[in-house]
Amino acid sequence: MIRRAPTLLTAAALGAACAPDPKAQAGDDPGGWVWQIPEGFPTPLVPADNPMTGPKVELGRHLFYERRLSVNGELSCGGCHDPALAFTDGLAVAVGATGEEHRRGSMSLVNVAYNSALTWVNPLMRDLEHQAMVPLFGTTPVELGLEGHEQQALDALAADPLYQGLFTAAWPEDEDPFTLDRVVKSIAAFERSILSGGAPYDRYTYGGELDAMSQEAKDGMALFFSERLECYHCHGTFHFMDSVATQEMAFPELYHHNTGLYNVDGMGAYPLRDQGLIEHTFQFYDMGMFRAPTLRNIALTAPYMHDGSIADLDGVIDHYAAAGRTLTEGPDAGVGSANPLKSSLVRGFSLSPAERAALLAFLDSLTDEETLAEPRFADPFADD
Ligand code: HEC
Ligand code: HEC
Repeated sequence: MIRRAPTLLTAAALGAACAPDPKAQAGDDPGGWVWQIPEGFPTPLVPADNPMTGPKVELGRHLFYERRLSVNGELSCGGCHDPALAFTDGLAVAVGATGEEHRRGSMSLVNVAYNSALTWVNPLMRDLEHQAMVPLFGTTPVELGLEGHEQQALDALAADPLYQGLFTAAWPEDEDPFTLDRVVKSIAAFERSILSGGAPYDRYTYGGELDAMSQEAKDGMALFFSERLECYHCHGTFHFMDSVATQEMAFPELYHHNTGLYNVDGMGAYPLRDQGLIEHTFQFYDMGMFRAPTLRNIALTAPYMHDGSIADLDGVIDHYAAAGRTLTEGPDAGVGSANPLKSSLVRGFSLSPAERAALLAFLDSLTDEETLAEPRFADPFADD
């Protein structure tokens, strides 16, 4: 198996992240938190300064869906990360509170606690606590647009009896828990709690339910894990992606790959609006590199890829079967299969109609409807 080594910056970042134990045992919970870890899954990492507790997770759930944490009271994290769509939004690219378009699509948050780095690319974005600051305060683009309005938002929460109870329960030792630090830590704890391992694939693989998957889906699984299709190299493990961090691992793993989605100049360039890892490392060979996303619940998260430029899973299979997508017209036109920076694992293949149907059936078997409908993860304001 050929796997691209992490880039220099990535390796350096990994080194930094692995310096003296920044993470605590997930079991060290003064608040009596009990993980509901799916069968066959490892234990997520938890930062030492933000242990899991039940009341914190419950506060975080409310804040995750709290529209008063946006500049105009119209959007929440949950507005772009809807559990019914596996915590995505159904759009090609996300749209912020003020209508501004993000250049990328919203990402699923299922099992996000296991990601070694967050977002489609950023190798330095390690913690959910730091990541939450971007949608809250970012201005390029505006997502929740809270910059300059944070005190107002905190005051509104502090004046609400619901939040008075929730913050006091979550942060019992704080004189004044209505701070940004407490907001992002609570949201991060909620996100870490979103674990899903009840898909037919899991029930078959880890639960020993031999008929949880159809024969067609099992045939598709064999294709997915084959050297012919290579999917599993980048979307392998229980997490269906290769950038994973768990308590059991000595080092987090982080990889980026160029799948030949674009080739606008014949020399491997991706469109200027988003060129991937190169924006962080300034190394030409990182052009078009993105972190593989999880494929869990993938049937629910169309459209696909970092910019939502593939409408459906059939289109994604076409892209890989062709060893990279060809666009014949428009500003992004180019032959992706000729992209010289493309991963050697994206080599192309042909599938019979039955094999294609099997692969799609396998991808469908990664959907965990039950977990996505869990009241523990649902919008508490849904009926308001
Ligand atoms: C306007 C829509 C929008 C809002 C609001 C939003 N997000 Fe996101 N989210 C995105 C997009 C787009 C990405 C991908 C960003 C990138 O790659 O640059 C993303 C990525 C993420 C990721 C990374 C997931 C992964 O697999 O690495 C996390 C975690 C996340 N968002 C959490 C949150 C939280 C917490 C909030 C609220 C504080 C929030 N988001 C609000 C659109 C949104
Ligand atoms: C070389 C590593 C690699 C291989 C091999 C690979 N993928 Fe991917 N996959 C990625 C990366 C990286 C992305 C995101 C690319 C982007 O957005 O530009 C991705 C994106 C996807 C997406 C879209 C996910 C989303 O949330 O939008 C699907 C679906 C997918 N891959 C399925 C497959 C299947 C099926 C195979 C086998 C035929 C496969 N992949 C092989 C790395 C890989």
